[in-house]
Amino acid sequence: MEGSIVAGLITMDDLTNEQILEILSDAERLLPVARGELYLPLLKGRILGNLFFEPSTRTRMSFETAMKRLGGDVVNLGDVKTSSVVKGETLFDTIQMVDGYTDIIAMRHPRQGAAQYAQDAARVPILNGGDGAGHHPTQTMLDLFTIQQAHGRLNGLKVVLAGDLRYGRTVHSLSHALVRFGCDLIFASPDLLRMPEEIVSDLRAHGANVLETEDLYGSMAEADVVYMTRIQKERFADEDEYARCAGAYKLHARHLEDVKQDMIVMHPLPRVDEIDPTVDKTRHARYFEQAFNGVVARMALLCRLLGVTVPADVSAEGGAL
Ligand code: NCD
Repeated sequence: MEGSIVAGLITMDDLTNEQILEILSDAERLLPVARGELYLPLLKGRILGNLFFEPSTRTRMSFETAMKRLGGDVVNLGDVKTSSVVKGETLFDTIQMVDGYTDIIAMRHPRQGAAQYAQDAARVPILNGGDGAGHHPTQTMLDLFTIQQAHGRLNGLKVVLAGDLRYGRTVHSLSHALVRFGCDLIFASPDLLRMPEEIVSDLRAHGANVLETEDLYGSMAEADVVYMTRIQKERFADEDEYARCAGAYKLHARHLEDVKQDMIVMHPLPRVDEIDPTVDKTRHARYFEQAFNGVVARMALLCRLLGVTVPADVSAEGGAL
């Protein structure tokens, strides 16, 4: 069945719960294609424009991999320093032009609200790959996929979100989505990096059960997911403020002795020092798989936004590489 149209993905509000679940199911069927076991050129002839005005490894590369695994092509803005941005071109003009070169655009920008601004200037769908400290909905889709793969469901889980909740855009988008699926949230952060008050009150207005604490390690016993984040150094106006919160949490394997057997530790990556490498070898670590899931989740999103149906039986349609 053809899924309902999504015009662009700027925040998680652009997707209904039903659409989220459909996209996650499309993503699951696309796993053999993402792994390179099957070739399925659903996006042949389509071009993705990658516009990253901020550093990115996973988001940019997984978008590119997703497009290419589906037979599509990618054009990159490349390094901002070698583009016309340095000549003073406005974002509005850049978008209007790239709009003519491509069928869909993935964009990351340091300014909050830039993705919506770009969508207003474009005819093609914009996928927000992070706008300042705002939102990061494509990351949320791969996070939800990872949680669903591990727990078999999204609803009714207890999720600890830890670290930089003030500037971390991944946790802003993810907390909204989790609340819509009836999860209980624990926000663990240093006082300076608490989840913005307007987000907490919005979540509570939607019936969320949210607890705020500075005690990460003491709040993990009942958790199904512990989602760690990096302190977003680049967003601090004041270096001393950063120095006061840096290294606030350092999750080590010894902290995991009394957690639930099936609890998973996630992280959008890159990590700095908030997850010790001793955690990598434990049954709980899920962050590298999570990064791989960026490919399938973005494949499913690209198909949905380009109006391409993912076949019910992918192996019957796909061929050998
Ligand atoms: C995140 C981001 O850019 O917000 N990274 C990512 O997309 N995987 C998290 C971060 O940079 O800390």
